[in-house]
Amino acid sequence: MVITIDGPAGTGKSSVAQKVADLLGFDFLDTGAMYRAVALAAVRRQADLNDPRELEFIARHARIEFDWSAHPPAIQLNDEPVGHLLRGAEVTAAASRIAVVPAIRQQLVEQQRQLGQQRGSLVTEGRDQGSVVFPDATLKIYLDADPAERGRRRVAQLRARGEIVDPAEILRQIVERDQRDSGRATGPLAAATDASIIDTTHLTQQQVIEAIVKLARQRMEQS
Ligand code: DC
Repeated sequence: MVITIDGPAGTGKSSVAQKVADLLGFDFLDTGAMYRAVALAAVRRQADLNDPRELEFIARHARIEFDWSAHPPAIQLNDEPVGHLLRGAEVTAAASRIAVVPAIRQQLVEQQRQLGQQRGSLVTEGRDQGSVVFPDATLKIYLDADPAERGRRRVAQLRARGEIVDPAEILRQIVERDQRDSGRATGPLAAATDASIIDTTHLTQQQVIEAIVKLARQRMEQS
């Protein structure tokens, strides 16, 4: 059984997906971390982010796995735990460039489907999980929020981590990433036609979690 949660950056997808997975006793898959791990490999090799063939080569040699015994599951790049290296500005910007390369998407989509089969019950979070990766998911959620509100949330998150941030620059980056994520030809950010859309602009995280868990329990009863 798969529950997909898609949506743009700053909608709180990750924390929401993780908590929904905990409440339902499902595994949690952060697919953005997979793109970020490939980006880290590219940044370390000082790859040309405009050269899809170089990026594809790097992705093919990047073994991305999760340690499912950790909570949340810990991402590894060629056996190295790299979760703590994936949230900086450089890797974040590179991930968004990596994510437009069709061959890399294909590789990661295939791996995500395999994980879906292996893990059994999964809450998976990304941009294309309901629209492309798991078209038959039991429940598809699309989280959205006003860009200004998403910017405020990201600023609060970064400040909580002790980072010094410029709110205008964060909003600019969010809008730019939205455009790149929605505009790409392969696996663009999109709500599946059968997704439940939740606008989180005026909701607390707890309200969003409760709404999703309620929908999930209804679907589980139906099936
Ligand atoms: O969700 P995130 O910010 O960690 O995602 C990092 C980048 O990867 C972001 O630019 C969008 C992209 N991504 C994607 O294209 N498809 C996914 N399923 C998940 C993330």
